[in-house]
Amino acid sequence: MAILSWLTTPSTFCRSVYQLRPQNRPAEMSKWVWVTEMDLKGKVILVGVTGSIAIYKACELVSQLRQQGAEVHVLMTPHATRLISPLTFHALSGNPVVTDLFVPETHAIEHVALADRADAFLIVPATANTIAKLALGLADDAVTTTALACPAPLVIAPAMETKMWQHPATQGHIKTLQARGVIIVEPETGWLASGKQGVGRLASLERILAALREALKRRERGQDLAGWRVVVTAGATREFFDPVRFISNPSTGKMGIAVAQAARERGAEVVLIAGHTEAPLPEGVEIVQVRTAKEMLDAVLRYADWLEVFVGAAAVADFTPKQVAPTKLRRSETERLLLELEPTADILMALRQRRPDAFLVGFAAEVGEPSEKAKEKLAHKGLDMIVANDVSQPDAGFGADTNRCTFITMDGQIKTLPLLTKLEVAHQLWDFVREHRERQKAEVKRVCR
Ligand SMILES: Cc1cc2nc3c(=O)[nH]c(=O)nc-3n(C[C@H](O)[C@H](O)[C@H](O)COP(=O)(O)O)c2cc1C
Repeated sequence: MAILSWLTTPSTFCRSVYQLRPQNRPAEMSKWVWVTEMDLKGKVILVGVTGSIAIYKACELVSQLRQQGAEVHVLMTPHATRLISPLTFHALSGNPVVTDLFVPETHAIEHVALADRADAFLIVPATANTIAKLALGLADDAVTTTALACPAPLVIAPAMETKMWQHPATQGHIKTLQARGVIIVEPETGWLASGKQGVGRLASLERILAALREALKRRERGQDLAGWRVVVTAGATREFFDPVRFISNPSTGKMGIAVAQAARERGAEVVLIAGHTEAPLPEGVEIVQVRTAKEMLDAVLRYADWLEVFVGAAAVADFTPKQVAPTKLRRSETERLLLELEPTADILMALRQRRPDAFLVGFAAEVGEPSEKAKEKLAHKGLDMIVANDVSQPDAGFGADTNRCTFITMDGQIKTLPLLTKLEVAHQLWDFVREHRERQKAEVKRVCR
């Protein structure tokens, strides 16, 4: 009976490509088409298969990858081989399956060679056990050993019973892997074969393929920001009016964190100045934790002479209480509380004064059509570029994993992005900034000649 609780219903392969997250999205599938554009022909894809009942869906995935021209190599954990024969994956992939590193014919050294040749490594389905091993860096089977030796982007599609997925241990491991840049294709909510409804069902094939293409794009970009010095702000500031109470906003910092993570992945040296955030902070990035708008300003100015590019993605308070009570305010001691607020200092303007030459990117989170207000902000603050987004949309802005953004530059270039994950928005932002800076540098050279 326990086994039954892992049984999942067959996946609905007709689900649309734009669904990178399990929730329903408005039908804007066409806007996601570019995500699917990358050609898989000739790409070397490793597929790690683990001991989940959703393993049968990996057969369809392997077959699809091969049909689309990819060179597919399957690696299986010993538990996976007890659910499906390696022969099935051998037939579907057209290549021998690596199941045991200690058997000469499946080559103990071959897995390193495969890891080096891989363009991407997918682990589908990923059990709670394998996820934990990956987070800890354990390497005791073909899948985890190869994953550790593989420099290519790693995509993990977990599948498990709801309680296993929601267990703090599993969630902790997922956060660790995300912070390391692993792409997680989160499981879906739906009917489990046990008869229960819950989260834990393997993501649809389309979502897994969309994540694979995101990974391949990431690999193509390589280390194109190597040598860049970047400062990013993220999250909400908190403006205290007594030692335990503050005024703030619902920002979770996900957008700024994604911007910092994307820059890091592409080789930049990154400082992330974080207010209150509710998402895992990326590894390999210097983190400066602040609470108030004033602390954020001070931190930014400390790095002012060092940075080349600044991205202000934090939701910084515009107003702060004029006075902070030295002790906790009590209801019993005052009939009503009137707070007098004063404007906070403008971080972007202060930085522009200090660094007229740096490339400054601001964010304009507005309610309603954001472009006009964003253009005003761009000009007023002397920014090089602004990212406008409408935070009133449920799939964009505060807390969402996706965003709808428009990039506007000071020389009048406008680029509107479709609904994308925040990490993909971040990569598009860096593509745009890089292109723009290169043009600026060429222009300076031309004028100086
Ligand atoms: C029939 C069956 C189905 C299972 N399905 C899952 C599953 O969907 N997800 C999961 O995390 N574990 C599942 N397990 C438990 C794992 O197989 C077990 O934790 C094993 O140690 C995983 O090993 P591996 O990660 O090396 O493949 C299942 C076990 C059995 C017997």
